[in-house]
Amino acid sequence: MFRFGVDYYPEHWSEERWATDAKLMQDAGINTVRLAEFAWSKLEPQDGIFDFDWLDRAIALLAEHGIDIILGTPTASPPAWLMAKHPDAFLVDENGRQRTYGNRREYCPTNRAYLEHSLRVVRAMAQRYAVRDEVFAWQIDNEFGDRCFCSSCAAAFRKWLEGKYGTLAAVNSEWGTVFWSHTYTHWDQIPVPITTGGAPNPGLALDYRRFCSDSYVRFQKRQIDVIREECPETLITHNMMGFGYDKMDYFDLARDVDIVSWDNYQRNQFHGLQADADWRGSALSNDAMRGLKRSNFWVMEQQAGPAGWDIVGVAPRPGELRLWAYQAVAHGADAILFFRWRTARWGTEEYWHGVLDHHGEPGRRYEEIRRMGQELVRIGDEVLGSAPNADVAILSSYDSRFAFQIQGNNPRFSYEQYIASWYRAFHRRNVSVDVIQLAAGLDRYRLVIAPAFHVVTDDDAKRLEEFVKAGGTLVLTARSGVKDETNAATDLRLPGRLRELCGIHVEEYDSLAPDMSNAVRLLDRRISEHGSLAIDCWCDVVALDTATALGAYEDDYYAGKPAISINYYGKGQTVYVGAIGSGEVPEGLASWLIELGRVEKAAESPSGVEVAVRVAGDECLVFVLNHTRERQGITLEGEYADLMDGATHRDNPRLEVPPLDVRILRKRG
Ligand code: GLA
Ligand code: ZN
Repeated sequence: MFRFGVDYYPEHWSEERWATDAKLMQDAGINTVRLAEFAWSKLEPQDGIFDFDWLDRAIALLAEHGIDIILGTPTASPPAWLMAKHPDAFLVDENGRQRTYGNRREYCPTNRAYLEHSLRVVRAMAQRYAVRDEVFAWQIDNEFGDRCFCSSCAAAFRKWLEGKYGTLAAVNSEWGTVFWSHTYTHWDQIPVPITTGGAPNPGLALDYRRFCSDSYVRFQKRQIDVIREECPETLITHNMMGFGYDKMDYFDLARDVDIVSWDNYQRNQFHGLQADADWRGSALSNDAMRGLKRSNFWVMEQQAGPAGWDIVGVAPRPGELRLWAYQAVAHGADAILFFRWRTARWGTEEYWHGVLDHHGEPGRRYEEIRRMGQELVRIGDEVLGSAPNADVAILSSYDSRFAFQIQGNNPRFSYEQYIASWYRAFHRRNVSVDVIQLAAGLDRYRLVIAPAFHVVTDDDAKRLEEFVKAGGTLVLTARSGVKDETNAATDLRLPGRLRELCGIHVEEYDSLAPDMSNAVRLLDRRISEHGSLAIDCWCDVVALDTATALGAYEDDYYAGKPAISINYYGKGQTVYVGAIGSGEVPEGLASWLIELGRVEKAAESPSGVEVAVRVAGDECLVFVLNHTRERQGITLEGEYADLMDGATHRDNPRLEVPPLDVRILRKRG
């Protein structure tokens, strides 16, 4: 069954209202509800005294309406009594300030007492609900990630280092602590990198980020172990925050869950209020979340209304809620839950609107979601069992991302934005992309882009070499191979361990000031009709070893020197892109790379119309998503059946898509 639902907080409403809610949900085709996340003080009102009766009643009522349950463990928002009893369980932020009570996620993930309390409430819940078949899945905590710098974390960090390096001598040598006399003679001397001390040693800073990420992976794993013991059949997930979130290694966090889920907001206060919705950003996040386990995922929170905390977000335009939800489905979502059912009257999120407004009466947004719910009753089963199938992979590395957080290289450079610019160039051309880590393996791809692949191990270099040797097309860029795994600068000529593969070395580099710019002239007109691409951030001056130049700088003392090159290596080829600017370079190279890599595209479409495909065996489902406010037409090759109305379209049909609407077609033959 395709899971279609909402995040519901029955504890925020009087119990007399519950039946109305359940009935409205059922009418909207809702078959799944997430409950109990953040309900710790209701589940355990006093230390060790549990009250599950209210939750039992809510589950029973929803079950009567044919609704299944995902239970959230409540550990993201501790009850006041717990934190009063264990004041040392408060998180300490990167400025060394300890949090106080009154928001959420204010706990330290390595605090013993907090862990014990967490496992106790999780076990009590798991024992209670192991017998209820309606509870088919669990979500652990909520949006893990805030880094803690407390003394418990400092002690745990030193243990973590001991486990990793064995001896202090190894730590000293790997981090190069001889610099500024940082040589440690006792484990307890190793600090946590709070910002008040100024910029820390990059080796220490990267390890601390890895450690913080690991702390949540471990905290999550302890909860998972308890649930698996009590409920061996259940599915377990965690709701992540998409590609934009940068404090956790999501590949690690995804390892222990059965399925990845994430929280998908296209228009919210935190993006800043804008007329345009960030639907391309959501496409990237959907693909990045699918890439974590390289399998389909759930959307645990899909935007349901204007989204803001203190500022009120722009109202989703009629059609957008359904369109965004189908976009996630097109990218591999097998469940959509809208956040939240009814808008809260109290608390920090009074303006984060749900399906229903504060008054609780169904309106425009409810009707839109009901429409989708009814559609999914008909088409949901056909959608399940299919998945996107990409020829192109973009490599995402949290080691590199963390390293750039420590040393940004150039104020204009952002690793996230740079990856997004490569992603966009392919997404605009309706090319399906997997966003993955290198360790996932590259065999199935024709074209792999590794933007600013900064921290590189020997093993990484070998994997990339094998991929190209076997016939793959690889794109590497400036700031690749600069760092080793301890975040020390390599002593090899750049791109370090990747030099042979690229057939070039970097003669020198130039980090551009905001009032500087350059341009790359493409030497081969077949690459791009642009002819010349603007550069405003970074210039590697490339020296050719075995490669051939494809583009050269136009200005400055390195005018005429290569900026982009291609190297034939084994049965494949590596393109090196030494110049980083705004999105112009990826945009200028994408069409040529698609041909070079012999990559399949879904279809040509007008700007603002996205075509995404899910494949099942030799059939495929084509989603045509019109993100514009005008009616659009598109011509497809072949023969199609419309999934919604069953109509058949033959001989390269031209199809119309209304504004902010979608068509889902099954390709025949
Ligand atoms: C996140 C959280 C939710 C809620 C929304 C809105 O995604 O998971 O609990 O706070 O944002 O802010
Ligand atoms: Zn801590």
